[in-house]
Amino acid sequence: MPSAAGDAPTNAAQIEYWNDHAGPNWVSFNAQLDGQIGAIGKIAMDRAALKAGQGVLDIGCGCGDSTLELARRVGPEGSVRGIDISAPMLALAERRAALEPALRLEFKRLDAQTADFPAGAFAHAFSRFGVMFFDDPVAAFANLRKALKADGRLTFICWRRLEENPWMAIPLGVASDFVAPPEAMPPGAPGPFALADGDRTKQILDAAGYRDIALEALDEPLYLSGPGTAAAAAAHATRMGPVARVLAESDEDTSRRVEAALTETLAPYHDGTGVRMDSACWIVSAQALKQHPE
Ligand SMILES: C[S@@+](CC[C@H](N)C(=O)[O-])C[C@H]1O[C@@H](n2cnc3c(N)ncnc32)[C@H](O)[C@@H]1O
Repeated sequence: MPSAAGDAPTNAAQIEYWNDHAGPNWVSFNAQLDGQIGAIGKIAMDRAALKAGQGVLDIGCGCGDSTLELARRVGPEGSVRGIDISAPMLALAERRAALEPALRLEFKRLDAQTADFPAGAFAHAFSRFGVMFFDDPVAAFANLRKALKADGRLTFICWRRLEENPWMAIPLGVASDFVAPPEAMPPGAPGPFALADGDRTKQILDAAGYRDIALEALDEPLYLSGPGTAAAAAAHATRMGPVARVLAESDEDTSRRVEAALTETLAPYHDGTGVRMDSACWIVSAQALKQHPE
């Protein structure tokens, strides 16, 4: 299907990225990433206030950590469907789900923006950092709304601006002492900060047919790369994520020097469990409009 932005297929760049680059990294560093964002993801789930027996859609479910937790929350009378565009991440999600056979959940390889969901199938749509990558966010959230029941709700957690997230900005600043800083992304471009502008996010959801849109600023420290040493967090940062991307063209010596400088910078943030740094997110919640506008 052509995208609104031009002739390229919908979300083609993100599909390639999450299958060939980021997806395999997320699989390799899965435990560390769940350790990093699991706690704030659970705070967002608490806000969703799911009820036993509900049907839930987990958007951009990745390796399935959030899907498993959602399934525990809705219990054996409920069910959860995790959708994602990344085959390697979904394969890990399936393997993890097989270890908890009592949970009612399934995974499908689908693009949230274009999937032909059964109308009104879900009571709640949830996402842990999986809704910032759409090339047409209004179309994507409208498509998701159609999958919701008339009184269905949407809850997701996403990042606020890079400058408000020292856990990303500080490591990038260290790398920028050695290599050129990353090119600034156009505001709202698909990527981690696509929904950082709260006013724009409200406009997107309003245009996509949601009401009672609420954005809660969540300022919670997280463990960079999960519990572990500063050296492990630095090694992780130089192998995947924004620091790894600016190092992509660098030689091994430069990468080693960045890793050593990062270890030194991160060490004072270690609290005995891991490298604990501030983060800034939005927890966004909204109600699907009963009467669809189109
Ligand atoms: C930052 S990761 C988060 C993964 C997972 N929710 C978690 O918290 O571990 C973003 C996820 O969104 C998925 N994604 C990106 N665009 C998508 C789309 N259009 N439809 C469905 N999933 C998408 C990616 O493949 C990736 O798994």
